Amino acid sequence: MILAKRGATVDGFDISPRAIQCARRRAVANGVADMTAFEVASFYSLPYDDARYDAVIGQAILHHLREKGQVARELYRVLKPRARAIFSEPFGNSSWLERLRLLVPVPSGAPDDPTEWTRQLKYTDLEPFRSLFEIDVAEMQLLSRLERLVSSRRLVAWLKRFDVSVLRTCPWLRRYARTIVVELRRR
Ligand SMILES: C[S@@+](CC[C@H](N)C(=O)[O-])C[C@H]1O[C@@H](n2cnc3c(N)ncnc32)[C@H](O)[C@@H]1O
Repeated sequence: MILAKRGATVDGFDISPRAIQCARRRAVANGVADMTAFEVASFYSLPYDDARYDAVIGQAILHHLREKGQVARELYRVLKPRARAIFSEPFGNSSWLERLRLLVPVPSGAPDDPTEWTRQLKYTDLEPFRSLFEIDVAEMQLLSRLERLVSSRRLVAWLKRFDVSVLRTCPWLRRYARTIVVELRRR
């Protein structure tokens, strides 16, 4: 919606008809229905022409898809040469930390599925993309992952600043981050 509001023409897809219905309603509510087209489709077989897109953006989707090689091929196909895809994904590179995460109480109503821990993205999930894309990653959230336990906004803001600084200066801690932003540049 944000990109469409800034003038981009946006196509969106999800395998869930409900998600697509919701996206269409939101496009109308935001006054960008003319700039957007949403379709029910699977990432494994996209209904789009070759080299159609300047950019692809995804939020919490890659970690759901087991066939990463097929995703890489479809992404490569629909992007223009040198175009980029950016994904923000829950990161679960450390299995003991992910197990620990399940012990943290979730406030009632939080949209969190505790069984998903086995499907968090890992560094190794990026391997199938390497031959088709140049890859950059930014790991985020170390202590600020505790924000759902902390009610003080000031403390959460401090934890976020702490994370930025620690993750910059201690690269070995990045594998324990909670979120990863992956940038894929088509070769
Ligand atoms: C965690 S949700 C994220 C939804 C949305 N991107 C967001 O950030 O609110 C994961 C989404 O992936 C979709 N999904 C799962 N498998 C898919 C596939 N093979 N192709 C397309 N979408 C898929 C699900 O329907 C679900 O809407």
